[in-house]
Formats: sequence, C-alpha cells, structure tokens
Amino acid sequence: MNISNRVNQIGKSAIHEMTRLSKQYEDVAFLSWAKPTTGTPKHINDAVINAIKQGLTGGYSQSEGLPELREEVVKKLKRDNNIEANISQIIVTVGAIEGLAASVMATIDPGDEVILPTPTYSTHITHVKLASGIPVLIPLNEEKDFALDIDAVKKAITPKTKAIMFCSPSNPTGTVFPEEILRKLAEIALDNNLVIITDEAYEYFTFDDARHFSIASIPEIRKNVITNYTFTKTYAMTGWRIGYLHADEEIISQIKKAHIPFAICAPVASQYAAIAALKGSQDCIKEYRNHYLNARNLMCERLDRLNSIFQYVKPQGSYLMFPKILGETGKDSFAFSKKLLNDIQVSTTPGIEFGPTGESHIRLSFCVPEDMINNAFDRMEKYL
Ligand SMILES: Cc1ncc(COP(=O)(O)O)c(C=O)c1O
Repeated sequence: MNISNRVNQIGKSAIHEMTRLSKQYEDVAFLSWAKPTTGTPKHINDAVINAIKQGLTGGYSQSEGLPELREEVVKKLKRDNNIEANISQIIVTVGAIEGLAASVMATIDPGDEVILPTPTYSTHITHVKLASGIPVLIPLNEEKDFALDIDAVKKAITPKTKAIMFCSPSNPTGTVFPEEILRKLAEIALDNNLVIITDEAYEYFTFDDARHFSIASIPEIRKNVITNYTFTKTYAMTGWRIGYLHADEEIISQIKKAHIPFAICAPVASQYAAIAALKGSQDCIKEYRNHYLNARNLMCERLDRLNSIFQYVKPQGSYLMFPKILGETGKDSFAFSKKLLNDIQVSTTPGIEFGPTGESHIRLSFCVPEDMINNAFDRMEKYL
C-alpha cells in the first residue's frame, strides 16, 4: 500500500490504545475522559427536534455556516471575549478540531515551523505534521506552574517559523495563560510576522483568580490571529461536532478553501443546536463550572494523600490536571497507565501523549462524577 509520509509519520495515539485496552474490563474507574459526562441541556435538544420537524436540517448550509448562527457568535464574541467581529469573519466548523485543522492547512507550508508550548493537546502536533509542517516543541515551566516561557518562545524563532499554536486553558495541564503574558506573546508575533492559532475550547472553565483572555481582543494583533472555539465543552455537546473560528476576512477566505474539502459545512442539525445554545439560558455553564471546581478540589485533596507518589500543579482551568509521577515507576508513563488499568482498573492517560515533556506524568480528568474520582483514588491508595 502506498501510504503518504504525511500520515505514516504519525504514531499510534496512547489515548486510543488506552481506550481499546480498557474495553477488556467491566468495572473501570475512568479518569481519562476529556469529555463532559452530563448530557446536552434539554432546551438545546428540543430546539433541534423542532428544526428537524420543520424540515430545516436535510440540506447543506452556506459553507461558512448559517447566518443566524454567525450573528449569535458575533454577539458572544463581543460579550465574552471582548472581540469586535462581523459575520464575514466567522466560519462554523465541525468542532474546534476541524477549525484547527483548516487553520493550519491554510497557513502552513511543508517545512514551515510551528512553535507549540508543551505539554499540549496532542492533536495540535498532529495537525502540524499533517500539513507537513515541523512542530517545534518548547517546554512550559513546570516549576512555575506550567508558565509560558516567553524567552523560550523568542529563542525558538527561526526564519522558518510561521506560527505559534496553543490552548489556554490548557489540555492537559489546566494552565490559564494570563493576559500580561499573552500581550508579550502578541508583541513577539507582531515583530516576527507570525500567525497565532489559538484553541479556546475551555474558555469558560477557569477557577480561583484565573481569567480567560482571548489574544484576538488586542486590536494590533487581530489580523494575525485565528481563534478556535467549540460548543463541545461549554454546552456538553461533544457528539454534535460543532464549533467556530474567528479571523480577519483576508485569512477567513483562505481558511474556507481548506474547510470546504474536509467538511462542505458543519452538520446543519448541529448548527440549529448551536443557535439554541447561544440564544438560550447560559445557566448550564455556571453549573458545569461549579461541578468542575468542586471536582478539582476533591481530586487535589485525594492527590495530597498520595504525595509520596504524585506531585501536582493545581489547575486553574479546563477540567484536567497533569500530576508528575515521582520515582522510578513514573519514568515510563505509558507503562504506568497500563499497570493502573490492568491491576486495579483505573484508566488514566499517559503523559507522553502530550509531547516529550509530558513523560513521567499522567493526565487526570475531573469532568466525571465525584463518585468516580473517589472510587479511582480508593483503588490507587490501596495499590500504590
Ligand atoms: C484543547 C482541546 N481542543 C479541542 C478539543 C476537541 O474539540 P471539538 O470536540 O470541538 O472538536 C478538545 C477535546 O478534548 C480539547 O481538549
């Protein structure tokens, strides 16, 4: 079989491997899910049922998405992200994932370098590789709560650097990059004419004093930024596959060329769900956030009781955390995760999935019911 180098270079995903392995067991305590476990709110489901009954969902929409949805997105961007946009700067996408893929395809040529602070969401690295770009992984500073090291970004820039790509709040570390750091990053991007591709999937889930800041809200840098958002996390809509991106018109018309051959348009039924999500009550966001905050605190308490095994940075956002495994056993995170699964049926995600600096860590998800967290930690306390 003639397989492209583009695809051939992409290794097996540890996440998928762990999912496959966990299917052997019946009673698994899952701390590996990065998807909300609450169902989509009823008013969103009802609105889609209505749209289906009215025969609105059987055809394609405009490739950039229904105008009504893009109008709602524009209002949301102004209200929650401090971004003044218009509907011609929005593309509705098949989740944030397809938006990110289209963003990379539209901006990265073979051999172009993309700076990614790591540990990071592994799919971003895959996106760059699929475009035959070169991922340049710079480490976040774990000693300083996984802070973005601005000097490391500057040092990593070469004549081939085209873009910087990151998620904040972060999957897997739960770090929220503060406004002052993002302002410095914007300056560097402007000085070097770099594109900034952001993934703001967890924008509403920040804790304590952390505040989400969208770098595209800085007017001077807006032309260089492509911002990707999703309904997946905010409204527990994982399976609807719906998100959107914002960029300047000039880039949008190019991204559209990449979006169309992969998607034509986002699923139209899901676009109606998205309209209902944006127009309806936003109470669910508060509820989810409170649940994640309590679950984070519980997970930290349980980790404190295992402080000879794990050391962690308290996450300020998302619903994920990334404890370091102390000692020799932690050196191989994949082996460690497999051991937990095979011996006590606790499912975690090996840190190596998130770049080389993720080794010796596991990713734990606290978007699960508190019982699941207690169950997993009861088992680990007995075992470790
Ligand atoms: C940082 C990040 N971006 C994007 C996604 C996927 O989003 P979507 O379902 O909108 O494609 C995830 C899912 O886990 C994620 O953690």
